[in-house]
Amino acid sequence: MEKSTAMKMSFTRSRSLLQAMLLAGLALLATGVANAATGVPLERARVDIRDVASMQRGARNFVNYCMGCHSAQYVRYNRLGEDLQIPEDELVRELMFAAQKPQETMTIALRASDADRWFGTAAPDLSLIARNRGVDYLYNFLRYFYADPSRPTGVNNLMLDNAAMPHVLWELQGVREAVFEEQGSGDSAQKVFKEFRQLTPGKLSPEEFDAFVRDTVAFLAYVGEPMQLERRRLGVWVLGFLLVFGILAYLLKREIWKDVK
Ligand code: HEC
Repeated sequence: MEKSTAMKMSFTRSRSLLQAMLLAGLALLATGVANAATGVPLERARVDIRDVASMQRGARNFVNYCMGCHSAQYVRYNRLGEDLQIPEDELVRELMFAAQKPQETMTIALRASDADRWFGTAAPDLSLIARNRGVDYLYNFLRYFYADPSRPTGVNNLMLDNAAMPHVLWELQGVREAVFEEQGSGDSAQKVFKEFRQLTPGKLSPEEFDAFVRDTVAFLAYVGEPMQLERRRLGVWVLGFLLVFGILAYLLKREIWKDVK
């Protein structure tokens, strides 16, 4: 008797735990969540790793806008072409500005020591950045540069305070300033982000710019784990096999046990 009450209690407890977890999951699913302490709106990247066209565009963005400073040293051009279904002539014409042969990796000519001198810090290799920082961080980082005359680059970043990276996409996004509010007083006073104000327009609309960044981040997500495309393709077959095998096993069980009552 006592045992069953205890069991019931632990069941109730685990059920409310489950409910709490479900609610937390739902909250995470909501798109715009603002960080309560800093007021920075944290948006979800919503990249779709099955969207090959998006990753193809992302590869082009990466080569044109990022590879001046960043490498992706674990990625080979020919593997990229294969995975993202880019024919070799297109690969050579549109992506291989920094390489001669398709089997080369996405390295760059910029030396770490030079980058260090110019920016005060080396631009990190981006092969594993999506796994390291997560796609949502990258999506917000690339969109949250704002004008800050006190910085040597003229910009700052809401996700990475005093970032050494210049706003390389400023022509596309335009230049924005960030408006902050003081909250609290004395020692506990805090600068809380309120909103952006557009100073000069960009070549892209805000929606187009978000899509541009989403493509770039999708490409970085692929680069961080090239196997995931293969794994997903394989996963469908594995699940199909398990389903068919499950049905067979069930029929077999019925056959074997049908005389045993
Ligand atoms: C002009 C050189 C330059 C270009 C071009 C450039 N970056 Fe950077 N990037 C840097 C430097 C320098 C840093 C180091 C910033 C720091 O640690 O403060 C950096 C850092 C980063 C980081 C790491 C941020 C972190 O949290 O540590 C990411 C991600 C990144 N860049 C992505 C990109 C992408 C994507 C592009 C192309 C759209 C790009 N960068 C183009 C110079 C550049």
